[in-house]
Amino acid sequence: MPPSFAEARVDLGVISENVAVLRGRAQGAQVMGVVKADGYGHGMIPAARAMLAGGATWLGTAFIEEALELRGAGIQAPTVSWIIPPGAPLSAGIAADVDLGVSSLWLLDEIATAAQEAGRRARVHLKADTGLTRGGVTAAEWPDVVAAAARAEAAGLIQVTGVWSHFACADEPGHPSIASQINVFHEALEVAEKGGLRPEVRHLANSPATLTLPETHFDLVRTGIASYGINPIPELTFPELRPAMTLHTKIALVKRVPEGSGISYGHRYTTTRPSTLALIPLGYGDGIPRAATNLGPVLAAGRRRTIAGTVCMDQFVLDIGDDAAEAGDDAILFGPGDNGEPTAEDWAAALNTIPYEIVTRISPRVPRVYVGG
Ligand SMILES: Cc1ncc(COP(=O)(O)O)c(C=O)c1O
Repeated sequence: MPPSFAEARVDLGVISENVAVLRGRAQGAQVMGVVKADGYGHGMIPAARAMLAGGATWLGTAFIEEALELRGAGIQAPTVSWIIPPGAPLSAGIAADVDLGVSSLWLLDEIATAAQEAGRRARVHLKADTGLTRGGVTAAEWPDVVAAAARAEAAGLIQVTGVWSHFACADEPGHPSIASQINVFHEALEVAEKGGLRPEVRHLANSPATLTLPETHFDLVRTGIASYGINPIPELTFPELRPAMTLHTKIALVKRVPEGSGISYGHRYTTTRPSTLALIPLGYGDGIPRAATNLGPVLAAGRRRTIAGTVCMDQFVLDIGDDAAEAGDDAILFGPGDNGEPTAEDWAAALNTIPYEIVTRISPRVPRVYVGG
């Protein structure tokens, strides 16, 4: 790994505080800290510890391998993994007491077989597709899956620990799919109950639902983005949440160029007067979207700037006009916004994406530096 002139500073105390806020919002429901994708780019193990310190009692990952990494770090909190493709390490997951999200009969069968071989009950969360139409069991297949799970439970092979689902549009308050999904979830719970299942936790809410839809909290809420302090609903504000990650770097080079200078690959930006340029040593190899060309906001030389020209693999350029700067001066791409720096939400708005993508894609090339906690 080459020396880096950048760091993603992650305040673990802030993650704990955000989770404590969400716990208050959850009104008695437990909180699952979602730490998949390396803790949305914040670092999975430190983020998980910070969330548990803030009052989360469950953790969530996409893949069993991620949950096994948590176990390897000595984290024993109940953990659900919900993307389980063929060939996933079921036996290792069962041995490590990882709760397994199940969206199909074939997976339920495979889990039962693996549990039999392991001589240990598998912990299973049956997922109903209530309208996201991604993972989950369709309403048509739900009764069969419930019946098969009840049989496997009676045979001592599995324990149905959870019944759950996931929203499509909880970040769009008032979207008609929200009420529809809640209804379908209630129907799925009724079928499960009639089928003899008594899950410990029923769960539906992600961050936006935790913040705005108390009727969706059930026994457990699954909060990812809000735990990292990022607002999941652009049209609302939640000042009690604070972004945990700040992406810092230093200006690598400063130079004066004449009017009419074409900047960076493709000359997609041209100076309109004699200008001072500041070279920022971060690029798409570090997770800065190339789509931030001429769009991404950066705090440098005392003011917010917009990237000038194409974002390259390792660098991009800022046009700071007649302002003063020196190589080695600080530049901040995003952070909590307290000192005039852009936020991940600002980046998302500028690039027509979501802040989830902005923080999660910062690559391992950028060292994470932990403070707080
Ligand atoms: C199934 C599931 N639950 C919960 C979450 C957390 O969502 P959010 O980050 O919006 O809280 C995710 C994240 O994508 C998810 O896939």
